[in-house]
Amino acid sequence: MSNIRDMPNGQTMEVRVWRSDGEGGRFEGFDVPQRESQTILDVVSWIQQNADSTLSYRFACRVGMCGSCAMMVNGQPRWTCRTHVKKVLKNNRLTVEPLRNLPVIKDLVADMDPFFDKWVKAEGVFHPSKTRADAIEAISSEHPMRVEADRAIECINCAVCYAACDVVEANPDYLGPAALNRAWTLMNDERDAGHDVRLDAVSQKGGCHNCHSQQSCVRFCPNELNPTASIAGLKRETAKSFFRRRD
Ligand code: SF4
Ligand code: SF4
Ligand code: FES
Repeated sequence: MSNIRDMPNGQTMEVRVWRSDGEGGRFEGFDVPQRESQTILDVVSWIQQNADSTLSYRFACRVGMCGSCAMMVNGQPRWTCRTHVKKVLKNNRLTVEPLRNLPVIKDLVADMDPFFDKWVKAEGVFHPSKTRADAIEAISSEHPMRVEADRAIECINCAVCYAACDVVEANPDYLGPAALNRAWTLMNDERDAGHDVRLDAVSQKGGCHNCHSQQSCVRFCPNELNPTASIAGLKRETAKSFFRRRD
């Protein structure tokens, strides 16, 4: 049995939810009971369980680990399982939409393929420098490169930063904050042998030099990461690489 209780005064809120079969769409309104410690994901689940079982949305862990529950809430990208209603409710109203800057599959479910395709384009994949026959390399947690990688490593792939980024909106080729942040962690992985190929990938059309450094990604990242700083690191390394290769 749920331990979430309705508010004693039976108060409800007005929730507008985006409904779409992938082409076009419209808002639909629901009256949802307000509850103690209620998250946006609780609200969406209440609608699906009590008002319209055809409502589609995505979640898995409910505890801020998997990154699958991100949506636009009152126009801003949020991880909905960790966003409390009382923090974002305005005039007793909520608007919930699928993540911006991605195609919609249905209702609140964004198609994540373009987001992850860009991780591949940014060479956000590990290039091993050793084989399984080699001894396992010990990397000190205090090594400066490891420290730099650690600052950016806790990404949960939620695409909140991608939805917050105006450059992604204006330029669909832009690789975006999360893919570039991932590329930066690998640039700081001593075991990785793909640094040159990665610098080529992130300096092409749509690469790190498109970032205007205004930090919307930083403002909204639920894990308090700083993709702008990672992208600045890539800009520095691509410039160094240009001069190194010219000499
Ligand atoms: S700082 Fe760069 S990556 Fe971050 S939101 Fe702005 S343009 Fe996008
Ligand atoms: S950088 Fe932050 S906002 Fe962007 S995908 Fe990773 S965890 Fe989400
Ligand atoms: S459901 Fe996993 S992060 Fe929200």
